[in-house]
Amino acid sequence: EAKGHVTVVVVGATGDLARKYLWQGFFQLYVDQVGGGHSFSFYGGALSEADKGTPVLFEILKGLACPPGLTPERCALLRDQFLKLAQYRRLKTVEDYASLSAEVAKAVQQEGLTEAGRLFYLSVPAFAYAGVAENINGSCRPPGGAWLRVVLEKPFGHDLGSAQVLSAQLEKSLKEEEMYRIDHYLGKQVVSQILPFRKENRMSLEPIWNKHHIERIEIVLKETLDARGRIQFYDQYGVIRDVLQNHLTEVMTLLTMEVPANLSNGEEAVRKKLEVFGALQQLVKSSAVIGQYQAYNAEVQEELNKTKEHVSITATFAGVVVHLDNTQFDGVPIILISGKMLDERVGYARVLFKNEVVCVQIPSSVHCKPRQIIFHFGHGDLRLPAVLVSRNLFKPAAVKGWKELEERKDLSLFGLALSDYHSQTPAEQKEAYGLLISQIFRGRRDNFVSAEVLLASWSFWTPLLDALAHEFPRPYPGGAANGNLLDLELHGREVAFLGDGGVVVIPQDGG
Ligand code: BG6
Repeated sequence: EAKGHVTVVVVGATGDLARKYLWQGFFQLYVDQVGGGHSFSFYGGALSEADKGTPVLFEILKGLACPPGLTPERCALLRDQFLKLAQYRRLKTVEDYASLSAEVAKAVQQEGLTEAGRLFYLSVPAFAYAGVAENINGSCRPPGGAWLRVVLEKPFGHDLGSAQVLSAQLEKSLKEEEMYRIDHYLGKQVVSQILPFRKENRMSLEPIWNKHHIERIEIVLKETLDARGRIQFYDQYGVIRDVLQNHLTEVMTLLTMEVPANLSNGEEAVRKKLEVFGALQQLVKSSAVIGQYQAYNAEVQEELNKTKEHVSITATFAGVVVHLDNTQFDGVPIILISGKMLDERVGYARVLFKNEVVCVQIPSSVHCKPRQIIFHFGHGDLRLPAVLVSRNLFKPAAVKGWKELEERKDLSLFGLALSDYHSQTPAEQKEAYGLLISQIFRGRRDNFVSAEVLLASWSFWTPLLDALAHEFPRPYPGGAANGNLLDLELHGREVAFLGDGGVVVIPQDGG
């Protein structure tokens, strides 16, 4: 790709997401690209005037952490350079965008450079997307052959109808290939390893990756934090829209789609993902159990200035059983679970295989132990992203750039000691946002959400959301050891969390 000047504009530059992840990701990009032939400028844009916004932006930038592998001196030097390339801009009106564009063009010309492209990261509420996209299109497109990439954060709509409206609005200003819809789970190292892992191990996996061998699949994100500080957003969305419709659904498709012949062919991957959506059984009310932590309504009243009589029925916990109607997986429960204010922070996808061995007499026998593969996202006790394959299943091929997980005698995960797994973890841990930002910079679109997949996912979730719209979630105490949620009934089954992070589905007939 042609080298030249790259302009990065973070719209919503001083908000929570930008503060926590985005600037760190752009600093990492700068560090990685130093000396690579491109030149950069970084604009932080927001609605405040420059005198208000500038100090806030620089307070964030001065606090940026050093990316791994840099000496403190080198890091300080690069951070100073990065700060010199950064400036705050009010980005409110179409004229603000026009003057930004003129300024970029002038600076590039004065330095005798050409423009490689402009990257806009929209870290603003979704209702503002269409307006910002219009301003970019109307007065801030780069000249000639330079690229334009506009990054959008979820929520992409509220249900199928609103997602369609939003898509149509954005299409007026931007081409599909200019839009990068972020699902930060696709940037998690483990999540992005699911397909390569399946491909690399296809000889062992293909024969068992089906209903004859898989007992169930669990995709779980349990959180200990509440929704405080973001009730304004959260109360309109709730856990299904916040986490299940996007993050957990993406993980589910990666586990159940056919592995594309060519992993770097984004179009093939989209087709295979759409096949999964085509096979999903429609969800009904009884597919789900919803809950709400007990302190939630007090938080709502406080943050939204509501009276005591106001009752929000937004779910902060959901467990949903999904089924695929295809020959490979029909009958295999796929359980998606997420909640706030639970007893532990943990996130994983677990494929549990059937175990035909009868082991009443010899409980310690290796054959009796669970046969499973865990894609551990990296929270919780382990605190590391990891792929774990129980030793009684098969020995997986090494994942590129990953190392064996150090054995931790103290750690038992999903019913097995760490030593009962073949386990690998990334040699170098990287933040999801940093990884995705570097992919956007390189124009790699395969880890972003395509319009078709987005709408397919909303088509799948919307009937359930409609069915639950007036349903009261079950209250649960904050920090609930999930034994308290033991009586969740899903499709005539009960779901229980186990202390070791596992989930078990108990058929009601006791079978
Ligand atoms: C975000 C949700 O998309 O994902 C949050 O809005 C949630 O509510 C978060 O906490 C979870 O992400 P992670 O990376 O912390 O697992």
